[in-house]
Amino acid sequence: MTTEAPLLRLENISKSFGAIQALRDISFEIGRGEVVALLGDNGAGKSTLVKIISGGLEPSSGKVVYDGAERHFTSPADGKAAGIETVYQDLSLCTNVDVVANFFMGREIVKKVFGVPVLQEKEMEAVVAKAMAAAGTKIPSLRTNVEHLSGGQRQAIELNRFVHWGGKLVLLDEPFAALGVEQTRRGLELIRRIADQGIGVVFITHIMSQAFQVADRMVVIRQGKVAGDVRREETSPDEIVHLITGEALGGRARTVGQENGQAQHAG
Ligand SMILES: Nc1ncnc2c1ncn2[C@@H]1O[C@H](COP(=O)(O)OP(=O)(O)OP(=O)(O)O)[C@@H](O)[C@H]1O
Ligand SMILES: [Mg+2]
Repeated sequence: MTTEAPLLRLENISKSFGAIQALRDISFEIGRGEVVALLGDNGAGKSTLVKIISGGLEPSSGKVVYDGAERHFTSPADGKAAGIETVYQDLSLCTNVDVVANFFMGREIVKKVFGVPVLQEKEMEAVVAKAMAAAGTKIPSLRTNVEHLSGGQRQAIELNRFVHWGGKLVLLDEPFAALGVEQTRRGLELIRRIADQGIGVVFITHIMSQAFQVADRMVVIRQGKVAGDVRREETSPDEIVHLITGEALGGRARTVGQENGQAQHAG
């Protein structure tokens, strides 16, 4: 028996959409405090896999073992309740209220004054200020409506909120696609800081340099299968490209389709 189980273990996950088999027999682990970059070509199955982890999709077969127990999430709310969340760039914040309101959405501190519930604005603002400071996130004013903040600032608010409310595993599906260089740099730093607090991070990106900058491990998905699972310090961008495309390092093409064809017949 191992002393500490990984945060998440996927065992032989497969997923079909009708005749399309998007994922075949996927197995890998994510440790606490580990950043795993999920790489692969368009249509490889990355988003499908992340949705299975979050509860957005149910696998056709295979096992999701999270925090020591097998889980059968049937909705993102199930995943969220267990501390797993997908953080999008800005989709899940309410733009017409301020940072503090977003941070406390549904968890507001309310005290009864002469029997009337009163929002404890000062107290809530102090909590948010502390969380932002701990993460090194600078927002000009926590009383700014989110609509006036940049994509990167919104993302930072979401991530800090996730950490503050006890999140354990965060899933980022191309989080920096719409961000500039400086905001992306800050986002990558924030990912590292979050992982350093013991949170697991799955980070989908098409940009190799981002993966090498922040990931502890890289899992490459090719045509729905794990083509490689490598530690960052033991791989190179060349090897990752090779794993993504299936082409040999020397340039000689290997036909992945044939391999998969055989696997399909066998199954
Ligand atoms: N709801 C769905 N119904 C049918 N097919 C789907 C569905 N979702 C995904 N697929 C198919 O599953 C495969 C994997 O798609 P997925 O979105 O996971 O790829 P991806 O690796 O995230 O690609 P990208 O890098 O382009 O975002 C594709 O062939 C896609 O068309
Ligand atoms: Mg995708």
